[in-house]
Amino acid sequence: MSKTVHFLPDNIKIEIQDKENILSAAARAGVYINAYCGGNGTCGKCKIIVQEGQTAAQKSQFINEADFSQGIRLACQCQPLTDVIIQVPAEIGKEGQALKRQPKTTRAISSRAIDELVGKKRIDPPVEKRFLKLNPPTLEDNLPDLQRLMRAITGSGPHAKEPTYDHPEMLQALPFILREADWEVTVILLRGKREREPDRIISVEPGDTTANFYGLALDIGTTTIDGVLLNLNSGEILAESSVHNAQISYGEDVISRIVYSQRQGGLDRLQKRVIYSINEIIQSICRDMIISPSDISYIMSAGNTVMSHLLMGIDPKFLREAPYVPVCSQFPLTIASDLGVMAHPSVRLFQYPAIASYVGGDIVAGVHACQMHKSALLTLL
Ligand code: FES
Repeated sequence: MSKTVHFLPDNIKIEIQDKENILSAAARAGVYINAYCGGNGTCGKCKIIVQEGQTAAQKSQFINEADFSQGIRLACQCQPLTDVIIQVPAEIGKEGQALKRQPKTTRAISSRAIDELVGKKRIDPPVEKRFLKLNPPTLEDNLPDLQRLMRAITGSGPHAKEPTYDHPEMLQALPFILREADWEVTVILLRGKREREPDRIISVEPGDTTANFYGLALDIGTTTIDGVLLNLNSGEILAESSVHNAQISYGEDVISRIVYSQRQGGLDRLQKRVIYSINEIIQSICRDMIISPSDISYIMSAGNTVMSHLLMGIDPKFLREAPYVPVCSQFPLTIASDLGVMAHPSVRLFQYPAIASYVGGDIVAGVHACQMHKSALLTLL
């Protein structure tokens, strides 16, 4: 039977099913409760006050008799038996307030400083936009639409390889895009990485859209996620947004997240929360730029090794157990929308590789950004 949990002072209500505890309900409701140990019952940080209603809760070393009689409980160890009203105490709320405020993007190194460090950047994204003028079909030249497009692509670029494509849905829209655009279209191509690997058509857009070429860079931190929209023609930063990583309700640090991921449904929940945060960033940036998420042609992300595992839904269990090995250090190039990211169905998400369990893609991205690997000097990042 479902019950209602009413959180104060946020005044947020949420329905829960049997056996769900207050901490889990709060996380679903977007109410911040400090859960340092990820709900293991071992940190004592998640104290709340049950103001009304009945709960099942164990006594705990973190709560003395007097506090227990006042209704103080550990949220992670407390299950409602009836509808309840829960007060999140001020000291927890205070930290929560900070987390509720929109975080500001802060860079340790300004873009200008990076320019000075690195010198002139070479813009070489893994995707390319190409404007094509196709010959319309005639009785003499009656190639099918797709082959006509392929012919134009192979005739227009440096490589004569015929590209491939992911989704049959592209074919459903193709004849109409070609005709409505009077056979003038822009294709977005994902470049084949190896010599024999063909380019891949990501999308076909009517007219010449080469001036609007967007890539998204994500820094997936344990606490904060930052996103930057780039002009892939120039490398210029166009918009940025930051949010708190919504996983934070399931543990403050990477170890607590690993611990939480071992619970039933924990890994799935953590993956969904980080995707939720990424989508918040995409929506905010797209609102500012008045573009659609499907206008973004490539996504690159960097995070520590645990964050990278959780983003892909890969179990991070063995990162915490000697000899501390990750499942992988190079993550496959993934179709972003397959993970639930708001993106065009063919757009890829690249994750910076990790070097070791606790030297992740965030460090690798930093090294790459400032190009310190090219210096013979002893250098500290
Ligand atoms: Fe509840 Fe740590 S004791 S989250």
